[in-house]
Amino acid sequence: MNMTEDMQVEQHRNVPTSTVGRGKAVTLPTAPVVDHWTDGGVSLHLGNSLDHYESWATPQVIVSDGAYGILGFEGDTSDHLGVAQWYEPHIKAWSERATGDTTLWFWNSEIGWAVTHPVLERHGWRYVNANIWNKGKAHIAGNVNTAKIRRFPVVTEICVQYVFESRIDNLTLQRWLLREWKRTGLTLRSANEACGVKDVAVRKYLDQGHLWYFPPPEMFVKLAQFANEYGKPEGRPYFSRDGVRSMTLEEWASMRSVFQCPMGVTNVWERNPLSGSERVKVPEISGKAAHLNQKPLDLMRMIIEASSKPGHVVWEPFGGLFSASLAAMQTRRRAYACELDSTYFQLGLSRFKQIDLF
Ligand SMILES: C[S@@+](CC[C@H](N)C(=O)[O-])C[C@H]1O[C@@H](n2cnc3c(N)ncnc32)[C@H](O)[C@@H]1O
Repeated sequence: MNMTEDMQVEQHRNVPTSTVGRGKAVTLPTAPVVDHWTDGGVSLHLGNSLDHYESWATPQVIVSDGAYGILGFEGDTSDHLGVAQWYEPHIKAWSERATGDTTLWFWNSEIGWAVTHPVLERHGWRYVNANIWNKGKAHIAGNVNTAKIRRFPVVTEICVQYVFESRIDNLTLQRWLLREWKRTGLTLRSANEACGVKDVAVRKYLDQGHLWYFPPPEMFVKLAQFANEYGKPEGRPYFSRDGVRSMTLEEWASMRSVFQCPMGVTNVWERNPLSGSERVKVPEISGKAAHLNQKPLDLMRMIIEASSKPGHVVWEPFGGLFSASLAAMQTRRRAYACELDSTYFQLGLSRFKQIDLF
């Protein structure tokens, strides 16, 4: 490739993507009477989530369902080229507020996720799993001219699970555990003795490869007690974050996110697209769905329940019709959400409380 071609490619990459959205099915004639609503642990805002993150409680779960690069809403990018850039300020803000027990569910198209993944990693998010929502063939059957689109019809979306990588002294927990043990001057093998196991402590908790396993909190406490009793006195305290005392069982437990998988669920979610009464509509204005991207409540409930406990905090930065916040309320979690568009905000709010739309 010569210099001119290089420059052309570079120029092509830098062309700003269009943010002209497709026509909305519904635009309400009225302005919202409130720009913020809060009740029973749910806080919904009209506005840009970037202006609100700072005031929200620390999240155990973030459900991200923003730009897809398909002009899905006013402000979405026109193709995947701008998607990573679109997300970066949000990802940076999430990382500033996330802790070791935060899970991120990142909804997107495959290509939208592919371009954003490096940005997520750079900001400390560790990839766990890609889940596929298979919507099945029913809604596309006979509708797609494959000779024209020249590809197989897409019937999926993805929802990728990330956790926030906890660090102590700027080391991942895996590195930090081994460093602490080495500081004691004890042999590696004595970690097994500390935990009262044959070899699992060395083989799993102190491993530096893919066999590493987060020590269960009761094992962590045993390692810390043993280290502080038999390790070099001048290095004490061991397994401490503040240099004053070792971490407690509860503190160690909070360094890891919740995950509980319902029986029989895999990473392929067979679920028809939303239809009929599940879809929010405004019949007075249009028979069409009010929001192209409304997500199924059951899938939202499933990911929230899998990655948090009642009372935990869920963030929904790109609210749309606030499906994740509604699912959070139904499962007794607290929710914080934002939506930029006043029509979507009002329709979303009407799922929580009776409001006059006209
Ligand atoms: C893909 S949709 C979300 C649909 C939602 N999950 C649902 O089930 O209804 C994304 C929404 O995010 C909103 N949005 C985009 N950027 C935003 C921002 N910075 N702050 C708040 N909302 C934003 C858009 O207006 C759009 O309605």
